[in-house]
Amino acid sequence: MFKKKDQKKETIDPGRDVKGDFDRSAGSVDVFSWRRHADMSLEKMMKIISKDRITRKRSIRADAHFDFNGKVVIDAGCGGGLKLFPLVERGAKLAIGIDGSAPALAAAQKIKKKLGAQNVVFINSFIEDCEPKITKLVGGGADFLLCSQVIPHTTDWRAILSLFHRLLKDDGWLKLVWVDCTLGFGVYNIRNKISYWIGKNKKDRMRIGDMLFSRFDMKGNKQKFEKQSYLADLYAAPYKIIPFWSMTSELKKVGFEVMECYPPNDLEEWQRQRRRSGIAVTRGEKIAFTPFLRWIPTLALRIRNFLWRGANERILICRKIS
Ligand SMILES: C[S@@+](CC[C@H](N)C(=O)[O-])C[C@H]1O[C@@H](n2cnc3c(N)ncnc32)[C@H](O)[C@@H]1O
Repeated sequence: MFKKKDQKKETIDPGRDVKGDFDRSAGSVDVFSWRRHADMSLEKMMKIISKDRITRKRSIRADAHFDFNGKVVIDAGCGGGLKLFPLVERGAKLAIGIDGSAPALAAAQKIKKKLGAQNVVFINSFIEDCEPKITKLVGGGADFLLCSQVIPHTTDWRAILSLFHRLLKDDGWLKLVWVDCTLGFGVYNIRNKISYWIGKNKKDRMRIGDMLFSRFDMKGNKQKFEKQSYLADLYAAPYKIIPFWSMTSELKKVGFEVMECYPPNDLEEWQRQRRRSGIAVTRGEKIAFTPFLRWIPTLALRIRNFLWRGANERILICRKIS
């Protein structure tokens, strides 16, 4: 039904086999080079930077209030620089963007030039291979490492967490953002897997995803990315399913402490975020939080996270502790 003339040319994935496993990194970078992710004009970037300035003030997240003056920051899988340039604007001494996709970095370079940001360095490399280059640039490690919506695209995400640990200074911060299957019914992962496995190539997968799911998913395109690049990310890029508990236990093993979690996954973190937002604890909540009953609101919180339609992004703010 979906067969088109050009399908013959492209029936196998571009990934190689790595230790018997599909090289998801190569497959993803190929998709994001083909349909550049979050490609944008200088005007759009300026809008994002100024919006970030406003929303940060109201945010309860620790990273929204970090002082980046004189700091070294890394964005692993920076794409067109959507998240990196706002950090540069906040005074980072050196900002390093790594991405496997040359076309994505070409778009980021254009913005860098227009902004006249001399302190930004882009490295065209797989994250897996970037260590020697980063160590050359910052021997002592970085203060802050951001990895946003990239880790499920990599072949060995556990090895990537160890690499992040090595790239950071002692006490350095890691901000990790990924699509977590324990949120929003896991529909993001389910739809990606359906399109990915039925489709034989990138175009096919996008066509299938577009036909079956895009009427629901396009509502999530808040940044108004070009439709084709949005669909490619959703349906043509290979994602590894990484549940919350696997991620947090691996972070611990590697030597990170999870300081903040959005949305919260346990009662302590939920209470902490309520306090930070200035919301008083009600009498009913106090009763529910007694030691005997605590498991009920915790379970309710996790069920709510899972059932909450539209939410699929998990944010962890971690500190390197050992
Ligand atoms: C969904 S985009 C996210 C871009 C950016 N972090 C953001 O939040 O807008 C994923 C990016 O990760 C890059 N990528 C995926 N796997 C990679 C890998 N193993 N090494 C380097 N870059 C990778 C892709 O080329 C793409 O630009």
